[in-house]
Formats: sequence, structure tokens, C-alpha cells
Amino acid sequence: MEQILSISQPTEAAAHLRCIACGSTPASAAQDFRCTACGDLLEFNFVRWPEDRPALKSLWIQRKTILKPLDQSGVWRFRELLPQIPEEDVITLREGNTPLYDLPRCAKIAGVDTLQAKHQGMNPTASFKDTGMTIAASSAHQQGFRWVACASTGNTSASMAAYAARGNMHSLVLIPEGKISWGKLSQSLDYGALTCQLRTDFDGCVRILNELVRRKPVYLLNSVNPYRIEGQKTAAIELMEQLEWESPDHIIVPGGNLGNSSAIGKALLEMHGLKLIDRLPKLSIIQAQGANPFYRTVKEFGGKKLESMTAHTQATAIQIGNPASWKKALRVLNETGGTVEEVSEVEIAESKAEIGADGIGCEPASAVTLAGLKKLRKTGFVKEGESVVLILTGHLLKDPDFTIKFHRGDLFAGTPDEQQAGQTTGLQRSPVVLDPNLGAVIAALEAAERTKPKIQPE
Ligand code: F0G
Repeated sequence: MEQILSISQPTEAAAHLRCIACGSTPASAAQDFRCTACGDLLEFNFVRWPEDRPALKSLWIQRKTILKPLDQSGVWRFRELLPQIPEEDVITLREGNTPLYDLPRCAKIAGVDTLQAKHQGMNPTASFKDTGMTIAASSAHQQGFRWVACASTGNTSASMAAYAARGNMHSLVLIPEGKISWGKLSQSLDYGALTCQLRTDFDGCVRILNELVRRKPVYLLNSVNPYRIEGQKTAAIELMEQLEWESPDHIIVPGGNLGNSSAIGKALLEMHGLKLIDRLPKLSIIQAQGANPFYRTVKEFGGKKLESMTAHTQATAIQIGNPASWKKALRVLNETGGTVEEVSEVEIAESKAEIGADGIGCEPASAVTLAGLKKLRKTGFVKEGESVVLILTGHLLKDPDFTIKFHRGDLFAGTPDEQQAGQTTGLQRSPVVLDPNLGAVIAALEAAERTKPKIQPE
């Protein structure tokens, strides 16, 4: 097998950094990954791609059978489409290789024939962040940094802390106090990060971190770091591989800081340019109503500007009012013909329970995708016969508080959404406390048989 691989090993790609606004091409990035000429974001621009593209598809599949960590990683096995990093610097937890599931009950609810979910919560630290982190942390290692840092709503910090630990680096986490889930906080503690809970929101944490990296030799691992974007591209490449390179009509992603949508869109455009896929899926981005600056950019300001806001949503992962990558996201939205939608808190909670009831589950931020799909069906943007893939970004167990409160009926108590939340009671499964006797359990079973749950097995 090794021999087959070395025979068909294609030439490597070559890429350089380029500013998305003024097009300048710095030899290296500044500490804050902003263009020193105009202050906008940088991206990797590929000036050479491997020549033998048809061979790539079989090479990537073959690598799954090789035991080498680099080939076992669902990110690095696609390394021909990524910036090159020497193998000795690579930090991998065998990220990627995440499942693509059918969601038959959710498909019925949404009114589409084919609905699938690419579950990025099935990564080593249980969110999509690992795919970008493996590359960006490896780049920090290659450059000899002792410290890496990020501002986070919880998943980036969990992922960064794990990769830093694996790569013998120190990590500094800035998180908004009281605004991230315990599950995520516990991860960064266990992986050994210096975890600072700042009395501000995510956007406040970002501002302080940007100052810090200019003062201290600390490597910034937020998604303004273009290595993160390159790694997150692989979710889309792997998705196409799982679909045998037949594009779905729609891909739907949650939007927070907008790095992930930018990455998935970049991968789609590159794959299309390389003729790895024949057709571009429409990439659509969904935000929570209370954290919708990008939705407003598109719908109110015609894509001309972003007006930052103070964000509020119980989907804390996407509680972001000033998304860094909005220009990148706007570009991929336009180039793929996708759209943007906003969904309410109750719609998020309801959709999350529906994804759970399909035996899959996800964290609240991921469930905006199904909630958004339902709206896009109603507006006619998505048609019944079209195929749709939702990107689920985080695991159900990331935020058990939200799930338990929902099933107990407490999630919206005392909030303006209390009344609208009535529509979700059919989905609630509060635990039943019983005396320890058989009769009580049988009575509970029979009562459950008599009630008609909103979603039931076929
Ligand atoms: N879903 C989950 C579960 C997330 O954690 C995030 C972002 C998003 C969606 C939105 O992705 O920011 O690329 O648009 N979480 C970041 C964090 C901000 O710090 O963990 P995005």
C-alpha cells in the first residue's frame, strides 16, 4: 500500500497569504493576522494545485487504511489542498472523518425529501473547531511559539487547549464570564489551559486579545488565523467524498464569527475550480435572531456594512455581535447563490429537540440549521425535491443544561418567549421520578403508550 501511495503521490500545492480587501501579499502575517496595509483579513491564495486531480480522490480514500497518524486524520489526508507544514510539527488528534447521517424525521418536519447532517460534533473535542485547530496549532508549533491564545464562546477554547497540550505549548483562554456552557469550560480546565473568565461578552474578549498579541509573544488561534480556515475546509471536502462527489443542492451552516461558513464556502469554490465537483451547492447561513448582525448586513444594508450589536441568545456558542469574517462569508454566500436567515430562541430549542429525536442530537447553536431550513422551505428558497445537508457543529453533550431545562419546561420561564414556548411541549421528555416498584414502572410505560408524542418511531 505504501508503494501505491508513493507512486500516485501528486505534486504539492503552493499557497501564499493575501489580503481579502487590498490584495497585498505579505511574506508573513502580523501577530493579529490583519493586513498591515489596510487592516482587513488575510487568506491563503493557492498559486499552484496538484496536477493529477482525478488521482486525488482515490489517494484520499486509500489513506484511511494507512495507520500513520497523518493519514488517519480526516484533515491531513486532504493535505494536497492545504498549506504545507512539516510532518514533525503536525499536532493531530485524528480529527475529521465525521459521519454523515440521514435525518428522516427531521426531513418530514421540514418538508424535504433528502436531509442529511454532517456531524462535526463527532470530532475529538466534540466540535468542528478541531479541524482548523490541528493546522493552526501545528503552525504555532512550527514557528516555535510557547504560548497560544484565543477568545472564545467555549468550543474554540476547548479545542485549542487540547491541541496545545498535545503539542507541549501553553494556552491562554479568554471567555466571557457566565456566558459559556459548563461542559466547554470544563474541557479547557482539564486540558490545562490558563482560563480567564472576563466580565464582558465574546466581542469584549476579542478586543483584549487583539491588544495582548501585539504586546506579548503569543500566537493567536481565533478564526482570523487563516490556517484555521484552511483546516475547516476539509469538512466540505470530506462531505463531497461521502456524497461520491455529487453536490447536494443546499448546505446550511450556523453563523457566529463566520469563520466556518467562510471555510466551507472557500472549499466549495476551490473544489469547483479544480473540477472535483461539477456543481456548486448553495451555501446558506443561519443566525439567532438576538445575534444577527450578518443577517442585517445582507437584508438591511445590501452587504455594504456590518453594524455590530450586543448579542443575546441561549445558543451561547453563537452569541457574537461583531463577527470578524463577515466579508469572507458574504463573498461565499454571493458566489454560491446562498442566502441568510434568522431564527427565534423557541425555533432553535424546538429544532434541537427534533434533531435529538432523530437519534443524533447536537448543541443549540447547531440546531439553527434545521430551524433555518424550515423557514427557507416556507419562503420557497429550498424546494421539496432538493437535497439538503446541515452542518452540525457541536455535540449534544456540550450543553446539557440547555437540554435539561428544555425537557423540564424551564428554558423559557420568565423570558419574553414563555408563551411561544408552549408549542414545544409535545417534544419535552421530563424524567419521571417513581417509587422503586414494578407497578409504578409499568404504569409509566402504559401512560407513555397512550400519549401521542409529536415525533414517534416509524
Ligand atoms: N456552532 C458552534 C457549536 C460554535 O461553537 C460556533 C462558534 C459556531 C457554530 C459558529 O461558527 O463562529 O465560525 O461562525 N464558536 C466560536 C467559539 C466562536 O469560540 O467556540 P463561526
